[in-house]
Amino acid sequence: MIEPVKFDERGVVLLDQRVLPHEERWIALGSVEEVAQAIRDMVVRGAPAIGVTAAWGLVVAARAAARATDGPDAFRERLREAGTLLEAARPTAVNLAWAVRRMLERLDAESAADRAVTDLVRALEDEAAAIQREDVETNRSIGRNGSLLVPDGARVLTHCNAGALATAGYGTALGVIRAAVEEGKRVEVFADETRPFLQGARLTAWELQRDGIDVTVITDNMAGALMARGEIDLVIVGSDRIAINGDVANKIGTYSVAVLARRHGIPFYVAAPRSTIDPDCPDGDAIPIEERPAEEVTHLAGTRITPEGVPVRNPAFDVTPAELVTAIITEEGIARAPYASSLRSQLGLAPLVPPPEEITGEEPSDDDGANEENDEPGPPGPLREAVAGEAGDERPADEPAG
Ligand code: MRU
Repeated sequence: MIEPVKFDERGVVLLDQRVLPHEERWIALGSVEEVAQAIRDMVVRGAPAIGVTAAWGLVVAARAAARATDGPDAFRERLREAGTLLEAARPTAVNLAWAVRRMLERLDAESAADRAVTDLVRALEDEAAAIQREDVETNRSIGRNGSLLVPDGARVLTHCNAGALATAGYGTALGVIRAAVEEGKRVEVFADETRPFLQGARLTAWELQRDGIDVTVITDNMAGALMARGEIDLVIVGSDRIAINGDVANKIGTYSVAVLARRHGIPFYVAAPRSTIDPDCPDGDAIPIEERPAEEVTHLAGTRITPEGVPVRNPAFDVTPAELVTAIITEEGIARAPYASSLRSQLGLAPLVPPPEEITGEEPSDDDGANEENDEPGPPGPLREAVAGEAGDERPADEPAG
């Protein structure tokens, strides 16, 4: 299994995803500033992977702070500064902030027990290792849950890279595909190339080929044509942040794929750990969207492809509204509309107080961001029917509840 993030005596060691698939280069980072810069520069990318990297970045910061400071108070102050620096590296993926918060909460808990600085460093090392280990376990659970939605012979479109490279290992969307293949199903993957950083063409293609999983790269603008020709049975993507109403932020271009999938009656699934669900984000409008440097659009492999002086746009993510999402697969199960309640239940949060019309006995509205068509099957076709049936009310008997 590919594990893109490691930690050893040199510090955080990352598989440089900027140079894949041509070169397998590992970079060792010995300061928290270098770790933050590597996250910004996308040496490592993918929501869970940058969370794991940030956790180890705090261990690097802790070791430096233990050498430079005398006493737990100054140590904690340095760690908080390091957390702020890491969190600011990329704004959209909530897993980054989640991992930093988890590390700092562990620090606070240990500090409350009056631990010495050396013990605090050791506790942070344990916590980072746990975040990394749990991420792989989580992905395997996501894979098992999601594979129920993947029939034998499925032709699956994915966008960006939500694979082993984007996590501590195994992947989320690609974890679902891996699990289906491990169960003996035949699966054919179509990987959108994913302009401008080409995560699909470079990274998804690389890691699936390495695992012997059937993968074909298409340019982003081919997806609609393939769907129209009946060559795609379902879509599975990852996510960087899921608002509590089910709106999903993911790599730019995901929204277009979801619209196309709806147009062609193809199920659109999102696979993500619960740490990607942000209970503080009421809907997609509240999700910060990262704008990346213009050079990623104006240049391709170092060569300028747009005229000098013409402005470009480079939002790195978009938001797919909940109404286009057939289901959200997490380690806990499969969440379906209405997401406002199914996602809260996934997070173990109390149900929302029922709206007043339910209390007064009026007809409850099911307008929760998921429209009627959400569960409708797609165009006829033997495989499509099987897939769409699972997207509707008839769930497999053993589907874990969301
Ligand atoms: O800009 P990136 O490459 O970090 O974007 C990654 C994605 O959009 C992934 O789909 C998402 O982080 C989920 S990764 C399991």
